Amino acid sequence: MSTTTPVPQLRLPGQAAAPEGPVDMAMMYVAHHAFRRDLRDFARAVPLTPVTDRAAWRALERRWAVFADVLHHHHSGEDAHLWPALLDRAQGEDRATVEAMEDEHAGVDPLLEACRDGLTAMVAAPSADTRSALTVRLVALREALGRHLDHEETETIALVQRLLSAAEYDAIDEHFKKTLTPRRLFRLVPWALVEVPTEVREELLGREGGTAHRVAWVVSRGSFRRLQRAAFAHLPG
Ligand SMILES: [Fe+2]
Repeated sequence: MSTTTPVPQLRLPGQAAAPEGPVDMAMMYVAHHAFRRDLRDFARAVPLTPVTDRAAWRALERRWAVFADVLHHHHSGEDAHLWPALLDRAQGEDRATVEAMEDEHAGVDPLLEACRDGLTAMVAAPSADTRSALTVRLVALREALGRHLDHEETETIALVQRLLSAAEYDAIDEHFKKTLTPRRLFRLVPWALVEVPTEVREELLGREGGTAHRVAWVVSRGSFRRLQRAAFAHLPG
């Protein structure tokens, strides 16, 4: 159990909590903010996108692939490294909290597949019925993932702060970084920073070891913005 001084924690719109402790959870909160933002946009954009706009549906499918890849990377890293590290130390009710995280990830997977299949169907054989079914699935996924992220931020990150030191968390984070190929990094950085306040973005990109992230941001933000505009072409504003 850690006894080190609490560090300042990032808070972003939609975040349920930011438990105090020795571990800086900023990157986790940036990812969670982006997952919530994406599902808000997909759930709003799909019913507003005309069935006949093939370019928009193809862009939505490509944009979904970015979201799904980052979410898979995030959840599989937590399942493989973060939850086991917590289970090594957790007792009683704390164990049940961590085990619920695994179950919630597993519960989200079929909804993710159903949404991807719906988008694929809108590209291959678009129809109003398929679009309606996809809208329902997106709302269900948004609710399920939202509940999971709220639960994780409120209870599981409180456990991270109570049971792990900053150095132990950094060692776990190294596993995430190892699977961050340059291709994934160039997609992830502009995706993660959409709607993040400028001062927060600059602080994150200016951190030690942040040069690769800044390069990825500068090089790929233009192409990501074009994909974003094409996918969410029918969202007002
Ligand atoms: Fe997470």
